[in-house]
Amino acid sequence: MVSFAPIAATGVSAILLTYVVRYISYELSMRGKLPIAPKREASWWLGHDYLVAKNEVGVEYGRWTRMLGPVFRIRSALWQDDKVIISDHAAVKHIFDQAYTYIKSPAFQPIVVKVIGRGIVWAEGSEHKFQRTLVSPAFSISAVKKDGSPYGGVFNMCDYIPAATLDIIGTVGFGRDFGPESPEGKAILDAWHTDVTLFSSFAGFLAPIVIGVAPWITKLPIKALTEDSTAKKVIHQVGRKMLREAPNLDGTDMFSILVRESWQGKLRPDAERRLDDATLLDNILCFFMVGFETTSGTIQLILHDLAQHTEVQNKLRQEILAADSSDIGVIESLPYLDAITREGLRLHPSARDTHRIAIHDDVIPLKSPVTLSSGETVTSLPVKAGEGFIIPFLVLNTDPSVWGPDANAFIPERWLEGGSNPPADKLPHGPWGNVSNFADGPRHCIGWRLAVQEIKLITAAIVKNFELKDTGATVKKFISPTVQPFTDGKAAHLPLGIVPIYH
Ligand code: HEM
Repeated sequence: MVSFAPIAATGVSAILLTYVVRYISYELSMRGKLPIAPKREASWWLGHDYLVAKNEVGVEYGRWTRMLGPVFRIRSALWQDDKVIISDHAAVKHIFDQAYTYIKSPAFQPIVVKVIGRGIVWAEGSEHKFQRTLVSPAFSISAVKKDGSPYGGVFNMCDYIPAATLDIIGTVGFGRDFGPESPEGKAILDAWHTDVTLFSSFAGFLAPIVIGVAPWITKLPIKALTEDSTAKKVIHQVGRKMLREAPNLDGTDMFSILVRESWQGKLRPDAERRLDDATLLDNILCFFMVGFETTSGTIQLILHDLAQHTEVQNKLRQEILAADSSDIGVIESLPYLDAITREGLRLHPSARDTHRIAIHDDVIPLKSPVTLSSGETVTSLPVKAGEGFIIPFLVLNTDPSVWGPDANAFIPERWLEGGSNPPADKLPHGPWGNVSNFADGPRHCIGWRLAVQEIKLITAAIVKNFELKDTGATVKKFISPTVQPFTDGKAAHLPLGIVPIYH
């Protein structure tokens, strides 16, 4: 009889040896010598990851950055490789600029497909270049509606602002009503509220990590894992119905523009590929999902800032009333509203961080030298294919060594002429306003113009017509899956006192 014991022993020894070799080479590598967050703060199985998720957005990354500098490691959950958190400006710019060398983590792709489909956010390499070129024309226009509530009292902003931003995306995206009264709008908003609660639970924290370690799990025939999100179903349904209708070749909404691109692509004899219906629908879905909750979270947190800073709110109201115009161009160019928008975005980025993985070896330049555990000081980081980085948006936006000791305070005046901001080349780099919120490089947020316009117009419309009052509730920010307000542990909850102003 064949004994399997020696075979098993050899197998186990080989695995152990591989681990030991990997461990030693990691410890000897420059990456293994980067400063590390205090090990006593890490859980034995959840690493530092859970501390990051459990506390308010940016708190732990910010604390460790002040303690260890702009490049450091944290322990990962489920014994995965350490994560390197990087907020050095030169390194961040390099990683964002080399978007086709530093790709998004493949581990997140199954979740991305489930929630927002195979659109531009999911695409990598040449597929991304193709989609980005074809969908870009859809962002040359914008149509924004105003919204408001006629009643006085305390209102949960999360019942109103997401509905307003969804309505706007519905108009800009499909040229049709996705307001809270429409069945589609209601279905998406209900699903969104459920998702925010789900994402903020422990299961919501652990699920993406487990899927990252064992991606095959998503192939199991479990309904919750295989079924598309409600929003995906609703938006695909509307889109498919519209695709069956005759295309509106004069429409200025994203859908019409993309349909036109798709038709023109078909007609162009030299076009290698046109935007097919599935990619078109997935992109519209993707604009909805990344467009409505990001902007609505930021707007709500800005309204909360204004409720807490009545002098800023009054000054803004005076500016809006003096302008006496509802013209988009006039509102957008108001200097104090602009400063408030920049300050609000700075303090409330919609994403906690973004992950990137190198697909080939590279060297990342550093603005500030890093001292390794060996005592050596380095001015660049060699990177091996497969190694990843995390870029923390709030740290970039609130680093006291850049923004000064009042970095965490809401002071719109810092953006005005003569304000306390350092010169632009000392601030984060991105498509708008020296804040990191919209990332940078070839994959920067394609919707930034629309987002800025929405923030300005909705904020202006509300402040013009309502006085915002702080209720004294403690509002915290958690990632779920984008940054949202939580009050007394309740997800998507932001109570504000609202008093109508009669002009
Ligand atoms: C305050 C509002 C917003 C913020 C802070 C924001 C932030 C971001 C960030 C950080 C990225 C890069 C993500 C990554 O690479 O990991 C991104 C990408 C993207 N955003 Fe936004 N976004 C906002 C609003 C919008 C809106 C309104 C739309 C569209 C309707 C939009 C559409 C997109 C798309 C399509 C991408 C993918 C671009 C690509 O990969 O080429 N975003 N956004």
